[in-house]
Amino acid sequence: MPESLGVAVIGAGMAGKAHAAAYRAASTLYRPTLPEIRLVSIGDVNAEFGQAAARRFGYERHDASWQAIAEADDIDVVSVVIANSLHREVVEGLLAAGKHVLCEKPLSDSLKDARAMADAARSAEARGTLGRIGFTFRRTPGIAAIRELIQNGTLGRPLHFSGRYWTDYGCSPDAPMSWRYKGALGSGALADVGSHLAYVGEFLCGEIQAVSGGQLSTAITKRPLPLGAVMGHDHTAVSDTFEPVENDDVASFSAEFAQCIGSLSVSRVAAGHANSLMFEVFCEKGAALFDQRRPSEIGLFLSDGPASENGYRQVILGPDHPYIAGGLAMDAPSVGFGQNDAFGYQARAFLEEVAGLPESESLPRCATFDEGVRNMEVLDAVAESAQNNGKRVAL
Ligand SMILES: NC(=O)c1ccc[n+]([C@@H]2O[C@H](COP(=O)([O-])OP(=O)(O)OC[C@H]3O[C@@H](n4cnc5c(N)ncnc54)[C@H](O)[C@@H]3O)[C@@H](O)[C@H]2O)c1
Repeated sequence: MPESLGVAVIGAGMAGKAHAAAYRAASTLYRPTLPEIRLVSIGDVNAEFGQAAARRFGYERHDASWQAIAEADDIDVVSVVIANSLHREVVEGLLAAGKHVLCEKPLSDSLKDARAMADAARSAEARGTLGRIGFTFRRTPGIAAIRELIQNGTLGRPLHFSGRYWTDYGCSPDAPMSWRYKGALGSGALADVGSHLAYVGEFLCGEIQAVSGGQLSTAITKRPLPLGAVMGHDHTAVSDTFEPVENDDVASFSAEFAQCIGSLSVSRVAAGHANSLMFEVFCEKGAALFDQRRPSEIGLFLSDGPASENGYRQVILGPDHPYIAGGLAMDAPSVGFGQNDAFGYQARAFLEEVAGLPESESLPRCATFDEGVRNMEVLDAVAESAQNNGKRVAL
C-alpha cells in the first residue's frame, strides 16, 4: 500500500464541491485503513471557482488546466466533474498520465466517446491505473437496503418497477443557458438524471433487455445567456439574448428488465420537485419504496401478516442498514442522512480500491467504465425509440 495518495478534483462546480468535500471526509469514515490522503489541487478553468473551493475544502492549491494536474507528480487520484462533453479528453489525458480517475456520470455525451473511454480505461487498468464512474445513488443506504431485501429473498423477485427522477432546475424560462441544455436529443434530462434512474433500476431489477415507448420533449425551447459564469443550477443574472435549447427537458420510457417490467420518467421542469428521485418496486413477497426527499427512511410492505393489519411501514435507516455503521460520525439510529454522505462513501470506495485494499475488506467497488457504457447504451436506446415513434429497441 502507498504511504499516501495525492488527490485532485477537476471541476469546482456543484458536484465538484461534493467530490472535494468527500475526499476530505473519506479517511474519517470507518476504520483507519486508508493511507494518508493529501488534498492537493482543485482544477477549474474559472480560477475564482477553483480558488474558492480549494480554500473552502482545504486543498493545497488550485490549477487552471487539467494538463497541470496530469503533469503533477504529487497527484495520484483525480475526480473529473465537468460538463459531460468534456469528460473524454480530460479522462483520456489523465489515464495516459497514470492518474487513477473517478469520472462523473454519464460517462460522456456520446456513446462513441464513452466506448473510446472504456477502451482507454481497460488499457490503463492493464498498466495498474484505474478508471471508475461515480453512480452516486448506489451508495444511498435506503437504495442499497432495498437491493439487499430483493437479493436476500425477503421481497422476492421484482415484478414491476416504477421510477421517477423529477427535478425543477429548468422549470423557469429565465433559468440561464448552460452546458446542460446543449447536445443531441437524449443528452438533456435523460442523460442528466435519467442516467441515475436507469442505473438504479438495473441495480435493483437486473439488466434492461429492451426499451420502448421512448418520449423526449423540449418544453422550453430557448433560454437567456447568463451575464456571468453559471455554477450548477444557479439562477444568475441573464442578458436579453436567447439561444435555443437543443435537448430534452422531459423523457419517459418503458423498460423490459431481465425479470420484470418498468416505467421510468425524468424531468428538469417538474416545478415543486427540486431533486425527487423516487421509486417503488413491487415484488413477489411485498414492495418497497424510496424517496430522495426523505433519504433517511424507506417504505416496506411485506405480504406476511393478516390483510386486516397489513400495509406499508416506515423503516428508519440506522446501523443495521448498509453504509451507516461506522460510516457516520454519530452512527446511531435515526440521526439522518443526506446525498452528500453518499459522495463520501463513493470517494472512500475509490480510494480503497486505488490503495489496494482487498475487495472483501472494502466498500462495494465503484462501477467500471464498461458499466458506464452500458448505462449510455440504455439511454441511447431510449433516444432511438423516441425518434421512431416509441418503437421497441432491444439492447
Ligand atoms: N452524481 C451526482 O449526483 C451529480 C450531481 C450533479 C452533477 N453531476 C455530474 O457532474 C458533472 C459536472 O456537473 P456540475 O453540475 O458540477 O457542473 P457545473 O457547471 O456546476 O460545474 C462545472 C465546472 O467545470 C468547470 N470547467 C469547465 N470547463 C473546464 C475544463 N476544461 N477544465 C476544468 N474545469 C472546467 C466550470 O468552470 C465549472 O466550475 C457532470 O458530469 C454531471 O452530470 C453528478
